[in-house]
Amino acid sequence: MRKLVSLGLVRDFPQGAPQLVRAEGRRLACVRRGDRVDVLDDRCPHEGHALSMGTLRDGVLTCPWHNWKFDLSSGRCLFGGESARRFPVEIVADEVFVDPTLDEAEARLRREEDLVRAVSDGSVDGAVREALRLARLGGDPAVPLVRAACMRTPYGAADALVAIEASLALCDAGILDDAESYAVIAQAVSDDVRGRPERALPAALPGSLADRDAFLDDLLEERRHDAVGRALGLARDVPFDAIVREWLVPFASIKLWDRGATLRRIRAAEALAARLGDAVRDELLVGLATSLGWAVAESDLPAWRATRAGLHEMARVAPGDADHDPHLSAALRGKEDEAVGAALASARAGASPRALLEELATAALERLASYDLACSDREGSAVTAFEPARAVIFAAAALRAPTGRVALAQAVMLAGLVGRLGRYAAPSSATPAAPQASAPASPGDLALAAREGALSPRCSWSSRGRTAALAAACVELATPERAELACAALRRATMLDTGGGLARIAGTARYVVDGRDVDD
Ligand code: FES
Repeated sequence: MRKLVSLGLVRDFPQGAPQLVRAEGRRLACVRRGDRVDVLDDRCPHEGHALSMGTLRDGVLTCPWHNWKFDLSSGRCLFGGESARRFPVEIVADEVFVDPTLDEAEARLRREEDLVRAVSDGSVDGAVREALRLARLGGDPAVPLVRAACMRTPYGAADALVAIEASLALCDAGILDDAESYAVIAQAVSDDVRGRPERALPAALPGSLADRDAFLDDLLEERRHDAVGRALGLARDVPFDAIVREWLVPFASIKLWDRGATLRRIRAAEALAARLGDAVRDELLVGLATSLGWAVAESDLPAWRATRAGLHEMARVAPGDADHDPHLSAALRGKEDEAVGAALASARAGASPRALLEELATAALERLASYDLACSDREGSAVTAFEPARAVIFAAAALRAPTGRVALAQAVMLAGLVGRLGRYAAPSSATPAAPQASAPASPGDLALAAREGALSPRCSWSSRGRTAALAAACVELATPERAELACAALRRATMLDTGGGLARIAGTARYVVDGRDVDD
């Protein structure tokens, strides 16, 4: 309901000089120009300095702290980042009235727009502030960020989408706070979408889940527009998890040559759809259909001869239900052909897909924990700790739904990958596998390692999205038996980073949005 509060008489405001007025617990920067008075929130949206201490020229108010400039008539930021909040004013018989109540729907919309603008401009600190403001208004910053991540990159749902889901999971686990998780997300989304406009959507092709083969053909033939159209044409009451199960995961299991990257994106989208609901359903489908349509090329990937043969063989094996195979663990640590052979033999002997994937998850963590850092240092080396980190991320994604033939195929691919990673192991006498983990790791150690890994300012080995995904994967895989290993693996992958950047951005944003005014 509208509520008008008197700020005084027009004639009492000085011409062309901002003035601070306190009303209803708010600080207002009031500027008289002739017979009109404009009122902005006194807190500069950048770092909270008093706009009433700013300077005025040609209807533009300049904050004295870092010179952000605001159009008095709209509050829009003309130089800098986010807009200032402007209050509606009425003048009745020379008396100035302001409505200090917030139109929350309008405010959320404006914050969403400013948030997307900030990540598109590459302003991570601005995006974190806007995300916090949106959250304080009851909005969910993940919604506009998921839309941006899915709709603005030519490759659809990619690392940024995974970073969003992974960072929210780390926040849910109490490892990151909200500002920190937004900082990780803002960095990852900005890396992917900076300077990119939203893509145009094709027309929806109405159909049902029974059209799966047509959808898969579109992807295999790289007809991405048609694949997106089919995804958009599915009836709205088809559950997202059914689309994942019937259309998306089967495709990812035909084309596993991206070493699990597509599967991880699908699992991220599934979790985000469950969390955010219909608000992002179309965007997630568009992002995934686009992403899968780019995932078909395998010709430039390594030969993977043993893995290809293993996948062919495994298609004839019925999934078993035994939950343990005592011979599997050691065999999985062999070379590609040995690891694939072990997985096949174990599956034939009745090991369940879950049992295979659990053993492979442990083996993947061991590969990462023993990764030879010298591999990254060699001149011209394209190898980084991301090679074994892929396997850890892949294992965690596969273990979210470890049943059926699809999971068996994933186990073979993962076995081949883990086997191939043996070449990057540190010589045990030269470099200890996990120097930081000499004492048993506690849950707190793992949380700290995950937090530092996700927030470190530079990832010398990978993108922000992948680092967040690895941190979340290690937390996901950290059963009591694997906690110490997960901690050592994470430390190994992120020990090249130096700390502080995103944590500092998050802390400043929290101060600006939630803290006191700078001159109080
Ligand atoms: S420009 Fe206003 S506080 Fe930085």
